[in-house]
Amino acid sequence: MSEQPVLLPYADPAFVADPHPLYRQLREEGPVRRVVAAGALEAWLVTRYDDALAALSDARLSSDVRDASDARLLRQLPEAERESLLSNMLRSDPPDHTRLRRLVSQAFTARRVAAMRPRIQTLTDRLLDALAPAGRADLVADFALPLPVTVISELLGVPVDDRHDFQHWTDRLIRRGVRAPDPAVVDEAWRHMRAYVTGLIREKRAEPGDDLLSGLVTARDEEQRLSEDELVAMVFLLLAAGYITTVNLIGGGIAALLTHPGQLDLLRSDPALLPGAVEEFLRYDGPVSPGIARFAREDVEIAGVRVPRGATVLIGSAVADRDPARFPDPDRLDITRRDNAHLAFGHGIHYCLGAPLARLEGEIAIGTALRRLPGLALAVRPEEIDWRPGGLRGPESLPVTFVPGG
Ligand code: HEM
Repeated sequence: MSEQPVLLPYADPAFVADPHPLYRQLREEGPVRRVVAAGALEAWLVTRYDDALAALSDARLSSDVRDASDARLLRQLPEAERESLLSNMLRSDPPDHTRLRRLVSQAFTARRVAAMRPRIQTLTDRLLDALAPAGRADLVADFALPLPVTVISELLGVPVDDRHDFQHWTDRLIRRGVRAPDPAVVDEAWRHMRAYVTGLIREKRAEPGDDLLSGLVTARDEEQRLSEDELVAMVFLLLAAGYITTVNLIGGGIAALLTHPGQLDLLRSDPALLPGAVEEFLRYDGPVSPGIARFAREDVEIAGVRVPRGATVLIGSAVADRDPARFPDPDRLDITRRDNAHLAFGHGIHYCLGAPLARLEGEIAIGTALRRLPGLALAVRPEEIDWRPGGLRGPESLPVTFVPGG
């Protein structure tokens, strides 16, 4: 294909507020479109559901950045990030991926996660106790953000009081290339994160607890099942992956309901619809948007389009999740939708490890907020909601009002 790549215009507020009209246009124009995504990343965007599903389990598409011909991808990265990227499971292929994933998969099984329900409910209630009397809140800063950060901190065994620290630095990292492209800022953030994570590991070595991080330190020190770099990368991945997207699910889900009053009424009248509603928020406007990056290990043909070796392939999960060939009336938010096998958590060997946890947090947070905040409404016009630009989509803040209560 010789046409010019299409720029995903993150500087355009209309696109940032709602990227789906452009996603739709790209999907209608072809199954594979060349785009320039966040961070000036040139990629081949896979736009349709069946092709995206197949691409996510295609072993010729690697998760390892070293398979990318765009050497900038690696060269541009600060050293600490390079080490981390090259050593974490999200960016590894088998057999390393299999080994790394196995080390932590036990902590995220459906049964283990279900056992966390009472604790997540308590944390949710505490946050709502604090904000309920005021009658107004920013549901991102006061609710959607602190909940997953606390849950993942407790699971890993990270002191919850440290959370502002890593939140601040990860926040800088996810904005890079969009609002804060300054390499010095990014480098500084990585160095802080690395120092922070290394310090945590040191503490767990000195004083192991009954937590995931202590378990990983044991796997490293006593069983040599992962290297020191891999240990650092794993902790950083779990800390970052464990909350950013979930904040977006909770904030984005509540935003979707407040802008679709019919769906909000329906959910209030029948809370049993909640699990299906969470799936629908993930399909309708998934936090990983437009999708998931891979690198072509060899020339590959996707839907009849030849993608050259080394190319970055952006598997458009959020684009495919509105493919009318898979989802009837795809632009409609419908919390009663059936057969909703969306790709928001990916597919195949990298399928989101935290999916059961994210679903549970989403259900508890959204369900409890609706129950405890009567008259919940946006305090800004829908078009004034401030969406975060870049590949991790969600509202930056969500000012709301409600009937003050206890
Ligand atoms: C992988 C999305 C929450 C941990 C992924 C992938 C996606 C995703 C799309 C696949 C990436 C790929 O194929 O390259 C989401 C969304 C979430 C969420 C939308 C919330 C709504 C979580 C949580 C955790 C987590 C709560 C908890 C620790 C991970 C990890 C991986 C992953 C470790 C890498 C798995 C692997 O490479 O095998 N996530 N995630 N995620 N996610 Fe999540």
